[in-house]
Amino acid sequence: MHKDLESVVLTEAEIAQKVKRAAAWLDEKFAGTTPLAISVLKGSVMFFCDLVRAMQTPVQLDFMTVSSYGSSSESSGMPKIVMDLAASVKDRDVILVEDIVDSGNTLVRMRDLLMGRGAKSFTVVALFDKPSRRKVPVKADYSCFEIGDEFIVGYGLDYAQQYRNLPYVGILKREIYEK
Ligand code: PRP
Repeated sequence: MHKDLESVVLTEAEIAQKVKRAAAWLDEKFAGTTPLAISVLKGSVMFFCDLVRAMQTPVQLDFMTVSSYGSSSESSGMPKIVMDLAASVKDRDVILVEDIVDSGNTLVRMRDLLMGRGAKSFTVVALFDKPSRRKVPVKADYSCFEIGDEFIVGYGLDYAQQYRNLPYVGILKREIYEK
């Protein structure tokens, strides 16, 4: 385990299991269609790559960079689109892939934006759900793991852009982000 972590919440093996289940759920929901899977960068990148590889359904991929935290731990309330999609979402079944739903601001922003651009449907799959931090009443259609108000990093999730490449998810020691 990385020295800055106090414990591991999801091991690589546990992540792989959860990814498999989420992919099976998507396969059932989107059987016979070709949805457009969108990775909300940067946090969802690891989950996204594993998830689409575990799916049987033919799926197209696109990417959007959205940022609301910067180096702060509080959501700015207005997520910024740093890089937009390459593809049109008009009449497409969209699968939005998130690493975490926290305040819910990013999810609402993405839903309003993509439905406003004429997406046919909007489905959210999140690796983590932190319901205790919600500021707007939204929920992912499928979330793999519910977590309390802990500062988690790894497998895409960062603190000040660090720890994203850890292959597991752990709780960051308080002394790291409070110093
Ligand atoms: C994080 C995370 C989600 C979002 C969730 O992204 O990846 O996209 O915040 O929080 P919310 O529900 O409060 O909106 P961040 O803005 O930190 O950018 P990152 O993905 O590059 O880490």
